[in-house]
Formats: sequence, C-alpha cells, structure tokens
Amino acid sequence: MILLLLALCAGVSAIEWDAPTPYDPVWLASVQMFPQAATVNETRFWNWGWVYQQDVQFRLFTRRNPFEFQVLKINDSASLWNSNFDFNRKVKVLTHGWLNHGDSPMPESIKEAYLNVSDLNIIVVDWGNAANVNYILASYNVAGVGRILTDFLNFLIGEGVSMDDVHLIGHSLGAHVVGIAGAYVRKGPIDTITGLDPALPLFTLGNKDARLDKHDARHVEVIHTCGGYLGFASPLGHIDFYPNGGTRQPGCGFDYRGLCAHNRAHMFFSESIISDVPFTAVRCKDYDELYYQGSCKGTGEKLIMGGFDIHYGKDGIYYLKTNADKPYALGDPDPT
Ligand SMILES: *[C@@H]1O[C@H](CO)[C@@H](O)[C@H](O)[C@H]1NC(C)=O
Ligand SMILES: *[C@@H]1O[C@H](CO)[C@@H](O)[C@H](O)[C@H]1NC(C)=O
Ligand SMILES: *[C@@H]1O[C@H](CO)[C@@H](O)[C@H](O)[C@H]1NC(C)=O
Repeated sequence: MILLLLALCAGVSAIEWDAPTPYDPVWLASVQMFPQAATVNETRFWNWGWVYQQDVQFRLFTRRNPFEFQVLKINDSASLWNSNFDFNRKVKVLTHGWLNHGDSPMPESIKEAYLNVSDLNIIVVDWGNAANVNYILASYNVAGVGRILTDFLNFLIGEGVSMDDVHLIGHSLGAHVVGIAGAYVRKGPIDTITGLDPALPLFTLGNKDARLDKHDARHVEVIHTCGGYLGFASPLGHIDFYPNGGTRQPGCGFDYRGLCAHNRAHMFFSESIISDVPFTAVRCKDYDELYYQGSCKGTGEKLIMGGFDIHYGKDGIYYLKTNADKPYALGDPDPT
C-alpha cells in the first residue's frame, strides 16, 4: 500500500525500491529494540491514550538566558510578559523526535547556533514524557502534542505575536508535531515550517492530516536524510532537499537502523545556520529523476539548504552533496 502510494506520487507505474519496506517486521522490531531512554510509564499512555498538557513544556531561551530556560505556560499571560520574550524579535519553535527530550542534541545545537548568530525567541518544545515510550505509542502521541502546540501558538497570537514571525522546526516525529500544530492554528498560516527527516514508520502519504504537508504553513521546507527507512522519501513540502540522495549518508557506515542518517538532517541544519560555507543545492527536473538515479544533474537553478535566513525559492526537488564529517557543507559545487 505504501509503496503503491509512493509510486503513484512519483507518477510512475513500476516500483523499484531496494530499501526494506518500512513495515518490514524485522526492521521495525529492531527499531523498537533500540535502547530506551529515561523513565517510561507506558501504562499511563495505554490507559489514557492521549497526552496531557503538563507532559509538554515550552522552554524559552534568548541571548539573555541562553542556558537557563524560562517556562511559558499556555493561557498564562504573566509567564510570557514576565519572561525575556521579545515581541520585536522572531520566534523559532524547536521540536524533537522519538526517544529525545528538550535537551537532546536536536533542539540544543540548533538553539545554540541561532543564538550565536542573532537574538531570537527560541522556544524548545519538550515532549520527552510522551516521546520516551515505544515507537508505536510515541507516534500516537504526535497528534496530541501537536494540538497542545496549536493551543500554545494560539495563545501567543492572542498576546500579539504575528504568525509571520514564527518558524517551526521539527525533527523526525517532531516534524509531524509541528505540521499538525501549524494546520490548526487559528490565525495562520504560520510563516515557515522546516521538517528535518520527517518520520516515516506508521505515517502514510495518504493521510495528510496526521503528518507534515505543504498546507501546514506558507512555506514548508523538508530535508530528507534517511528516506524510505526512518524518514519519508517522498516530497512533503514546497521545497524538498535530498542531501546525498536523501536515503543513506556518507560517514554513516552500514547504519542498519538508519539512526545515523536520520540524525544528519538536524546536524546539517544546525551547521547551516552558522556556516559561512553554504549548503548549495541544485534543482532537479522532478522527483523521478532523483528517485531513479539517487542524484540529479540539475536544471541550472540553485537554492541554499537551511541557513540563518530562510531561502524562499522556487518550489521543487533539490539535490546536494555533503562531506562525510563536520563541517558538512561543500559550498557551491559549480560557482558561475
Ligand atoms: C504510571 O501511570 C499510572 C496512570 O497515571 C499511575 O497509576 C502509575 O502510578 C504510574 N506508575 C509510575 C511508576 O509512575
Ligand atoms: C486556552 O484558552 C483557549 C481559549 O480560551 C481555550 O480554548 C484552551 O482550551 C485553553 N487552553 C488551556 C490549556 O488552558
Ligand atoms: C557559540 O558561541 C560560543 C561563544 O563564542 C561558542 O563557545 C560556541 O561554540 C558557539 N556555538 C556554536 C554552535 O557555534
């Protein structure tokens, strides 16, 4: 079914797919077995099947408090007005994925990079309580966390924040959290969503309401690094970047579970914010070109992936190469 949808999306009838199918039970089991982090209270989520507001914490960081966060509470104006939140500055909302939490490398490295370049309101969504359960449960919790984030964004709007100043960034399951949040915001659309290797297992192309898609913000940008395994391979945004083809990443070795490649998405992104060397990508003719060849020659158009400034560009599919180790950016392969 999934493969069929992928094929339909790509506009082809033949299915050529050498990746294990996402629902391969052996593969899924191996993902499930990946060491559990933190404390897990699964009975709670089994019993309630939903996420409580207190399971999601909104942590504000600014240059005045780059390390010690201030907690912002939904519908609690005092928590906002007594904080370092600056209404004249842009807002970046960072949302982690499965088995991660508020001080994991994603969001931590992205927060650090942004604050190094500029003073912004960085809001880290810590949904660790609902993310540190088995994958199936965590993927169910995505919708609940997304709606709580919607509630939070509606609260910010009510206090005077413009959605034109808001950029949501999510990794893995967190990419779907921000997608769902964006879709339901009252005075949307949100300006920009960046999806960092949006999670694939248990999400389908067909069910747009449950995942990130291009209707969730004015501008949706996606970086695919483990497509077909832990991340979506098919394009989901207005602009989809496929570093190194988007499925396997140099420097990751055999990477059976795909976690190394999956994490490259946020590593590329955080580097792009502070890097002087751009991640210059070339635009492919279409998704088929990339899908069948794993790369593309380019149409002559270029676009920079990530970066401090959002590069609104021509919608499309973009390909680039990176280094196998830090620093990953290679600059413009063909400067003219
Ligand atoms: C787990 O959650 C359930 C339901 O909320 C609660 O009754 C139980 O005490 C919790 N267990 C632990 C170990 O915290
Ligand atoms: C916040 O306020 C809105 C609007 O009054 C309400 O719909 C929502 O349920 C409230 N959320 C919380 C968590 O209090
Ligand atoms: C940000 O700047 C600080 C201080 O100059 C430095 O220690 C840190 O490594 C920088 N972080 C990044 C991600 O560049």
